[in-house]
Amino acid sequence: MPNRGRKQRKNKKAPGESVKILISGPRIQRRIQALARQIRRDFPDEPLHLVSVLKGGVFFLTDLARSISGEVSFDFIAVSSYGQDTHSSGQVRLTRDLDSSIEGKTVIVVEDILDTGMTLQYLLKLFEQRKPKHLRVAVLLDKPDRRVAPVRADYVGFSIPNEFVVGYGLDYSERYRNLPYVGVLSLDSALAKKAREK
Ligand code: IMP
Ligand code: MG
Repeated sequence: MPNRGRKQRKNKKAPGESVKILISGPRIQRRIQALARQIRRDFPDEPLHLVSVLKGGVFFLTDLARSISGEVSFDFIAVSSYGQDTHSSGQVRLTRDLDSSIEGKTVIVVEDILDTGMTLQYLLKLFEQRKPKHLRVAVLLDKPDRRVAPVRADYVGFSIPNEFVVGYGLDYSERYRNLPYVGVLSLDSALAKKAREK
């Protein structure tokens, strides 16, 4: 029964929710290998310090860090910008700072998704004040249609349409982060209405 596991996994969602695969796990992995090579080509001789944004950026960071050759270190920061639903409040708050200084380091910010850009704008401002040698941004996903803040990423895994996605680190109310692929979340209409009213 080769298809059974896959079918069960696809159907086992919370009531009223479904996830349709947008980018498969193997495609994500291939793209990350290419991004890792590109980053190393841009900085052939430098130790690289990856700074990931908890929690969504964690899987991207761990896969990217293992694919970049040479010296790599990493650290984490946490911000909160989203509530329990699929709508951004537009406000960004620092909830956990980095462990170590980034002064003089070649820093790559590793984010799951670039949406309005408010989070990245906040982080770039914060990090620039700390005087890194270089500051670059890698995002797995980019939703260019949603941009509000004037920021851009130096390394982009995939540009995607304006849909709410989950998986590979991205959540809906803390769920679905563990999916090995990125999928579009649909809510049935009653739940979607409730989410809009929040
Ligand atoms: P921004 O500040 O609007 O660019 O949003 C960045 C953060 O919002 C991301 O790091 C995610 O945590 C969250 N986010 C934005 N779009 C999505 C999505 O489609 N699914 C899940 N989380 C998202
Ligand atoms: Mg995030």
